[in-house]
Amino acid sequence: MIPVPDSTTAQPWRVGVLFSQTGVTRDVERSQLGGTLLAIDEINAAGGVLGRKVEAVVYDPASTPRQYGQLAARLLDEDGVRLIFGCYMSSARKAVLPVVEALRGLLFYPTLYEGFEYSRHCVYTGAAPNQNAIQLAKYLLGTYGNRFLLVGSNYVFPYESNRIMTDFVTQSDGRVLDEIYIPLEPSAAEIDKVIARIAKTEPDVIFSTVVGAGTASLYQAYHAAGFDPAKMPIASLTTSEAEIALMGAAAAAGHITAAPFFETLATPAARRFVAAFKARNGADAPVTAEAEAAYFQVHLALRALARAGSDAPDDILAELRDAEFDAPQGRVRIDGETNHTWLWPRVGRVDAQGRFQVVWNPGMRVKPDPYCVVQSLDDWSADGLAVAPV
Ligand code: ACM
Repeated sequence: MIPVPDSTTAQPWRVGVLFSQTGVTRDVERSQLGGTLLAIDEINAAGGVLGRKVEAVVYDPASTPRQYGQLAARLLDEDGVRLIFGCYMSSARKAVLPVVEALRGLLFYPTLYEGFEYSRHCVYTGAAPNQNAIQLAKYLLGTYGNRFLLVGSNYVFPYESNRIMTDFVTQSDGRVLDEIYIPLEPSAAEIDKVIARIAKTEPDVIFSTVVGAGTASLYQAYHAAGFDPAKMPIASLTTSEAEIALMGAAAAAGHITAAPFFETLATPAARRFVAAFKARNGADAPVTAEAEAAYFQVHLALRALARAGSDAPDDILAELRDAEFDAPQGRVRIDGETNHTWLWPRVGRVDAQGRFQVVWNPGMRVKPDPYCVVQSLDDWSADGLAVAPV
């Protein structure tokens, strides 16, 4: 049996938290910080882990990959932390991974991403492409048509996501009319060029991998140009409740996002999470899929810590293998082979109030296939085992 120390005198478990509170992706990352700290509060309110409180060491990497790498090194080298919860942009994750690998830490990454990656020092709790992009492509191709225009921010996630989306579109006899990249902080003139391209090509769908504050500029310019989302929506994996709060309901209405969680989900678990999130972080704080992953990954990690009695990455990983948790989206499970997570894909469309309404719920928990071994729009997992016993 693991001895339980007296919580009034015992040293806390220190964990690192790296989400930006400033910079271009601050809005969605603030939601991730809110989800992380909510889970830590809940665990501490229930007595901590093995009688020890959990203490978050929180830094603001300012949406800058280099600062993520430097702050990860500080957490592991100087703050005595082994577990880090953090990162939104894939460029940030790619700056942190060599550091956690060299300094023997473990990163928990709660953001959808482009896949095609594995690190023994990372647990991925956001969607891989077979858990959001495939379902989005299937829905769009069946509803709007097969002529796509791709527009993204200028970094790795959009390049790779666009490549994957191009495969899905072309295998469905569709066409990618153009692929445009804009800076992370686009000027009005750069957004205008995208709008001009939309007007000229008249696609069936605009697939946007624009992230952060530039998202609002794109959707607002689309709205001002008078395009009709019912005929030609912007579809995305990264336009969450946080970006919608920035752009406003009028610009967001009618557009589509695929994600495992939306603030509007009506299940009791989702309602409880949204209420607790808003009680802690403010009534107007947007609750995003990225915040939900940030929340449930802390619970999974600290349950593993309670079982292991140690925060050594190898001990935590051994306890996490095939571990399950009743997350707000549904019961999730860590895939022991890939360190990714079984998740519940959904497709939502924004209504006139700026709230996502689910337009397609496949109702299944999908095994992560981070390398997209299976490319079929009708088969979403590597081994045909799309649904795990729940
Ligand atoms: C992302 O860069 N993974 C959104």
